[in-house]
Amino acid sequence: MTEPSAAAGILRKHRVAIGIMTALSPTLKQKLATPLQIGEVTVNSRVLQSPLSGVTDKVFRRLVRRYAPTSMMYTEMVHASGVCHVETLPKIMEVDPNEHPISIQLFDCRPDFLADAARKAVAEGADTIDLNMGCPVNKITRKGGGSSLLKDPAMAVKITRTVVDAVAVPVSVKTRIGWDDEHINAIEFARQLEDVGIDMLTLHGRTRAQGYTGAARWEWIRRVKDALSIPVIANGDIDSVEAAVRCLETTNADGVMCSRGTLGYPFLVGEIDYFLKTGDRLPAPTVIDRLLCAQEHLRLIADYKGYRGICQARKHMTWYVKGFAGAAELRESLCRIETVAEGEALLQGAITHLSECGETACLWESPTLTPLTLSGPISLPIRG
Ligand SMILES: Cc1cc2nc3c(=O)[nH]c(=O)nc-3n(C[C@H](O)[C@H](O)[C@H](O)COP(=O)(O)O)c2cc1C
Repeated sequence: MTEPSAAAGILRKHRVAIGIMTALSPTLKQKLATPLQIGEVTVNSRVLQSPLSGVTDKVFRRLVRRYAPTSMMYTEMVHASGVCHVETLPKIMEVDPNEHPISIQLFDCRPDFLADAARKAVAEGADTIDLNMGCPVNKITRKGGGSSLLKDPAMAVKITRTVVDAVAVPVSVKTRIGWDDEHINAIEFARQLEDVGIDMLTLHGRTRAQGYTGAARWEWIRRVKDALSIPVIANGDIDSVEAAVRCLETTNADGVMCSRGTLGYPFLVGEIDYFLKTGDRLPAPTVIDRLLCAQEHLRLIADYKGYRGICQARKHMTWYVKGFAGAAELRESLCRIETVAEGEALLQGAITHLSECGETACLWESPTLTPLTLSGPISLPIRG
């Protein structure tokens, strides 16, 4: 388990009384105090960072891991057939030797391609393989991948069995509660996958028809959890400590997976993880902390991907920049940056202005915080 005592000084200063809404029941507390067991892999955190296409690259995962050192992270989804006949793996499949535990997520509808890609993922360093059976995007479902497998359980079973047989690491599946309201089949679907050997299921509490709209239906996650013996991870609308606790109480799930709540906020997984382990809150990042994090993100993604990284950074910057006067104008300018220097100067301008108005940094005051690099060990600003 992460040692929380090193942070005691900072934490005492910032401790916030936890209200009734965020109190964990004793049974849940007891369960969450133990590690998450995914087959043979032990993970010392019950909070996971979801796979997010176009977001959870090596840089983003490092930013998240700085606050959630023991949490499981996922790569962006990788098209299995796209890596079958290549000598060099694409960047989205790259795993740093320092970033464990890590799962590589694969999607496709061809069992043999998936098995081959899974073997390559293990060779790259994946601790587990995750199979995407939840993506709602037409381009993918039309070809029989992602959430369309909910309509073809026989193929989902065939894929899963082939991949489970191909690799020695645990295999998990991430899926949705069903195709649409008339076809909610997560319980039977998940049972069949459990029978062919998956070690964990992550359930996004929406149907494919919902896309990303409407509330996640955690009550369905509860039903699936009750029907399975393997760990079930709840996903959908986990955007705060309060939401995580409510979801865990509603679903009795073995953990939660954060998704959109982490966009421009790589602190979320760590915040929830810390609360589940200690009952205390980590200090919330200030607006200045978020801008400093945006600067760091921009620098690292440009180091890693060059100009393409700068283009990708534009959307990240707009997610970080909110909650202060002038944020909208700054977002507009950041959407057009062509160089790192340009982006850093824009962010620095806002930091200087906010400082003059009396705003301060909180996380970045930590004496143990050192600049993040693309590889090597990560300094942990909060937990020492
Ligand atoms: C931009 C974006 C990219 C995503 N990429 C993936 C992906 O690569 N693999 C996957 O399984 N789910 C992906 N998802 C779905 C999320 O992991 C998650 O299941 C969904 O957003 C629900 O959680 P939320 O309500 O907390 O956002 C993506 C979602 C978004 C918004």
